[in-house]
Amino acid sequence: MNIKYDVLVSAQEISEKVNTLGAELTELYSGEEVVVIPILRGAFMFAADLIRAMDVPVRVEFLGVASYGEETVSSGEVRLTLDTSFPLHDKNILIVEDIVDTGLTLAYIQKLLQSRKPKSIRSVVLLDKPSRRTVEVDLHRTLFTIPDKFVVGYGLDGPGGFWRNLPDIVALREEMENTHSE
Ligand code: PRP
Repeated sequence: MNIKYDVLVSAQEISEKVNTLGAELTELYSGEEVVVIPILRGAFMFAADLIRAMDVPVRVEFLGVASYGEETVSSGEVRLTLDTSFPLHDKNILIVEDIVDTGLTLAYIQKLLQSRKPKSIRSVVLLDKPSRRTVEVDLHRTLFTIPDKFVVGYGLDGPGGFWRNLPDIVALREEMENTHSE
């Protein structure tokens, strides 16, 4: 399988920003416990690196959602594929998301988790595509603002669900965007 792409954010740049964010969060949550909630599937790699850069007591719970499936355009219908198992009442929740595009997914997640009456709730996002936003979402921190391109790598999938294991974040060339690998 081959894809044509341009590197948008290198593994080195990602690492630096993730470590800086980890240090900020260590200071912010000093003396507190945090329940980190990576949103499956795209955020698993970002979260794995981020929690290792956080020097506070961390629990990890996973939330699974799907809104795109095999499509490059959001269906607008967010489906919960996995819920958390740990009570979140009065806890500091840190949502870790790979990308905010329309904002529909994160808005859905924030509303869902807010209903469980946490002590605090913040969202940290690796990639922000503000040009595509259709709903406002509260973002504590975004690491990279990117143009409206189909990006894959560092956890984000591409055609056929592949390419999450690329260490860089890359933009697929236009001729690749609608192809699906077998
Ligand atoms: C992607 C991404 C976000 C969402 C962002 O999920 O991981 O959760 O889309 O898009 P939005 O802001 O337009 O709602 P996807 O459905 O591709 O699932 P995945 O994380 O399993 O790859």
